[in-house]
Amino acid sequence: EAAPVSPHANHLLPAVSEVGATTVTVTPFTEPMPVPPQLSPVSQAGGVDVYEIPIEPAQVQILPGLSTPAYTYGGSFVGPTIRARTNRPVRITYTNGLDSHTNVHLHGGRVPASSDGHPMDMIEPGGSRVYDYPNVQRGATLWYHDHTHDYEADHVYRGLHGFYLIEDPAERHLHLPKGRYDVPILLRNAQFDESGAFVFGNPDDRTTILANGKVQPYFQVAPRRYRFRLLNAALKHVFRLNLGGQPMVRIASDSGLLPAPTTHTELAVSSGERVEIVIDFAEHRGRGPVYLFDGDNPILRFDVGSTRVIDTSRVPDRLRELPPLGTPTVERTVELKFDMSGRPPTAFIDGKVFDPNRVDIQVKRGTTEIWNIVNGDTDPYPFDHPFHLHLVHFQVLGRNGGPPAPEDTGLKDTVYVSPKGSVRFQVTFDAPFVGRYMYHCHYPEHSYLGMMAQLEVVP
Ligand code: C2O
Ligand code: CU
Ligand code: CU
Repeated sequence: EAAPVSPHANHLLPAVSEVGATTVTVTPFTEPMPVPPQLSPVSQAGGVDVYEIPIEPAQVQILPGLSTPAYTYGGSFVGPTIRARTNRPVRITYTNGLDSHTNVHLHGGRVPASSDGHPMDMIEPGGSRVYDYPNVQRGATLWYHDHTHDYEADHVYRGLHGFYLIEDPAERHLHLPKGRYDVPILLRNAQFDESGAFVFGNPDDRTTILANGKVQPYFQVAPRRYRFRLLNAALKHVFRLNLGGQPMVRIASDSGLLPAPTTHTELAVSSGERVEIVIDFAEHRGRGPVYLFDGDNPILRFDVGSTRVIDTSRVPDRLRELPPLGTPTVERTVELKFDMSGRPPTAFIDGKVFDPNRVDIQVKRGTTEIWNIVNGDTDPYPFDHPFHLHLVHFQVLGRNGGPPAPEDTGLKDTVYVSPKGSVRFQVTFDAPFVGRYMYHCHYPEHSYLGMMAQLEVVP
C-alpha cells in the first residue's frame, strides 16, 4: 500500500507569504499569565473520575486586542487540566465539534491500545468517543493532544493541547509545593498574521513564544517555593530554558520524580518533553522580577510579592528511586532519516515510511530491551529529531557514544536526538497491555511525512 500523501506536506517548504505574514508586536509583560482551568469530574461513581470534554472551534484571545480562531478542548486554548491520581481510573468522553476527524492521545500515559489515540482510530465530526485511562503509573506531568493521521500538526498547532497531571499518594510525604503553588506552564511557538490568525508556514517563522497561551506574560508570585511543570508543546522547537544564569532545581523529567534533584543553569526541552523545576522566590523578595528565558529571549516574568509568607514546602535531597533497570534480552537499532530530495520530502524510520497496516517491531510484554536511536541524517540536511515512544518509560544509558547528558536522567518518554547524534536507552514493557502503539519523531511535520512506526506488544 502506498504511503498516504499529506495535504500539509508543503508546510516544510519556505513560507509562501500567505496572508501578509508579518510579526505581530506585543508590548512585553503587560498581560498576566493564566493558569489553565482545572476540570471537575461530572461523576465519581464507582471510584472512576468521569469527565466530558467537547472539542470545538473557538475564538480565543492570545494577542492583546485581537481574537484568534482556534481549535480547543472545551473552549480553552490551553485545554483544561485534568488532575488524576495513581491507580484511580479516569474516563473521558470527547465530542468532536470540528469539521474534521480528530482523536486524543494521552502522551506519557500507560493506557490500553483502544484508548491510545492510534492515528487511524478517529472520532468523526459530530461523533463522540470514550477514552479510559487506568493511571497505573507513577505521578507525572502528562499531556493530551490530537494524533489524527495527517492532521496532527495542524490540529495541535491550532490549540488541541492540554495538561493531564497524575498525583501520586506515595509522594505526599515529600512536601513539595502543591495547590496554587504547583503551576503547569505550556510553552510553544506560533506565527500570526495581523488579524491575529495563526499562520501555518515555515517552522522557523514561528518566532512568537506563548506561555499558557500568552505572549511574554507576567506571573505574580509570593516570595516562596513554586513547582513549575514545563511542557514543550511546540510542533518544532527546542527551548533552552534558563533564569539568566541562576541555578534551576530540576525535580522531575517526563515520567515522574527524579531520584534526587539536579541543578542546571540551562535546560534544553524539545518538542513533547516535560521538565519540572522548583524556584524559591523568597530569595528574590524586594529584589525585582525574575525572568524565564528561552536562550536570550525573555518569555515570562515572575513578579515577586513583597509580603513575607510562611512556606512549609521543601525540596528533599532524596525524591524517588527509579524502578529497577531489569536485564535486557533484546537490543535494537532504530534509524531516523529525513530525505529532502523529493517534493514533498519524505521521512523514514528504518528505511520505511509509516504504514498503519504494518507492524515494525514486535515485543513481548514484560521484557526489557535496549534501543539505540540513530539519527541517520547527513549533510546538507542534518536535522534533529525528538524521539517518542508510546506506552512505556525509558532510562537513557548514553548519548552520542558517551555518557548521558545532565538532562537525560530520570524516566523519559521523549528524548532529543541531535543532528548526526544517537541515544541509547533501556526500556521494560511492563505496562499490563498488549496491542499496537506508535513510536515516532515528535515533530509532527516529520512524523506525518513518514517518521512514525508501529510497535506491537504481544502476551
Ligand atoms: Cu505526544 Cu505520539 O505523541
Ligand atoms: Cu505519546
Ligand atoms: Cu524529526
